[in-house]
Amino acid sequence: EKSPSYWNKGARRRLELALALQQGAQRAKNIILFMGDGMGLSTMSAARIYKGQLSGSSGEESVLAMETFPHMALAKTYTIDRQVPDSAGTGTAYLCGVKTNAKTLGLSGAAIYGKCRSTFGNEVDSILHRARLAGKAVGIVTTTRVQHASPGAAYAHSASRSWYADASMPVDALRDGCKDIAHQLVHNTDINVILGGGRMYMTPRLTADPEYPEDPDQNGIRKDGRDLIAEWLSAKEGARYIWDKKGLDAVEEDSVSHLMGLFEPKDMRYELNRNASTDPSIVEMTEKAIRILRRNPNGFFLFVEDEIDHGHHSGRAKQALMEAVMLDRAVARAGELTSPADTLTVVTADHSHVFTFGGSTPRGNSIFGLAPKKAKDKRAYTSILYGNGPGYSIRDGARPAASLPAAGSWCYCKQAAVPLETETHSGEDVVVLAQGPMAHLFHGVQEQTYVAHAMAYAACLEPYATEPGCRAARRASHGTQCSPHPLLALLALCMAVLMVGG
Ligand SMILES: *[C@@H]1O[C@H](CO)[C@@H](O)[C@H](O)[C@H]1NC(C)=O
Ligand SMILES: [Zn+2]
Repeated sequence: EKSPSYWNKGARRRLELALALQQGAQRAKNIILFMGDGMGLSTMSAARIYKGQLSGSSGEESVLAMETFPHMALAKTYTIDRQVPDSAGTGTAYLCGVKTNAKTLGLSGAAIYGKCRSTFGNEVDSILHRARLAGKAVGIVTTTRVQHASPGAAYAHSASRSWYADASMPVDALRDGCKDIAHQLVHNTDINVILGGGRMYMTPRLTADPEYPEDPDQNGIRKDGRDLIAEWLSAKEGARYIWDKKGLDAVEEDSVSHLMGLFEPKDMRYELNRNASTDPSIVEMTEKAIRILRRNPNGFFLFVEDEIDHGHHSGRAKQALMEAVMLDRAVARAGELTSPADTLTVVTADHSHVFTFGGSTPRGNSIFGLAPKKAKDKRAYTSILYGNGPGYSIRDGARPAASLPAAGSWCYCKQAAVPLETETHSGEDVVVLAQGPMAHLFHGVQEQTYVAHAMAYAACLEPYATEPGCRAARRASHGTQCSPHPLLALLALCMAVLMVGG
């Protein structure tokens, strides 16, 4: 590194790659959208360093799989009503292509948060839904409950993101005909692969949880007495349901067209707290999903979410960064299982967090370590800090000194400037990285809604199914030249029948 030729040679390699970039007209057969919930740019940079340090290097020079993607855009994350957004409003933007109000799912901004009646007529369809209509296989993988805001925006239309089960809904919303998100998971779009947490919203009250049968707090909570898992299984031929890693490992990809795996009653555990013998990792879930979905000759759409967000909210940066590293491992694994020749892979975040790292730390400093100098209060501080959150602390009239090894522990709450029960999202733009067919559409500074549109265009999904270069467009024009359009043929037949009848 101390020789200029190290940097000059590296830069030349990067230049050659940049010069060789081509804007292909090829369309995407498959789309994988990786979404790091809460993965702002500062989180990505810190995760890169953590990844390097986990493998024993100083860290800064390490390379995330996602950052090898050749194309990139920034996305503006505000929602119609909020400068700093939540995951429901942003999910609706990047999945449905329409900005909306905070805490609402799969609805336009004409819908009002918490008002069931404002749902009807304001539904907007996600790219997952449109991909399924186009004959592709579709799937959801998440480390949260599968009814949570981000995956929920892929299939639900709900005036509140917290209507997980009927028991979570107000009486008037039920009376006015709104359905809970778990119900919509099973009865809206035909989803081929559903992997994550969220068992308790699927089964009737008092139903014991298979993993924690002794703990009544983990029981099913539905009041309508419905077993949505059983309903899903009986409605889909070749469907399988599993609830632990052993079950997932035993699934033979060739034998199932539909797979639902719910591995916890609510959200799945953080990677740092995961029991690797009972719960699959996001990498294992992503791999299983791809192996099942890619059997569809029309291609697939897969949404993969990792909940970096919850670690940040609790001020536990180590948990958040480990999730970001895991999401990157899932990106790498997906890259081994697919080809950029036919698969558009996009990596983005819904919003950022008030997470930062600084303090003139030396090269190779532990990303969870201390800044080299004391603060004005003559006390040590960690490089990682939050703008607000539970890490605010005053003891005996002063800020406690940060110290190692405590500051490096997974449960250490990094200090924050302002006391809040939970640390907040932040409002700056998020990165969108892309590789594969039409990845060059991801450029410039865009509204977050552009993500859904660029993906739909790349794969010839509605409303871009008949754009030049799409097979549907070609088939239609071909049809008018050589043989009657099927609708015209049907019309002719009807007229013939009518004439005979008359
Ligand atoms: C993981 O779960 C299994 C089965 O419940 C249990 O026997 C084992 O002790 C757990 N391991 C850890 C590290 O908690
Ligand atoms: Zn959040």
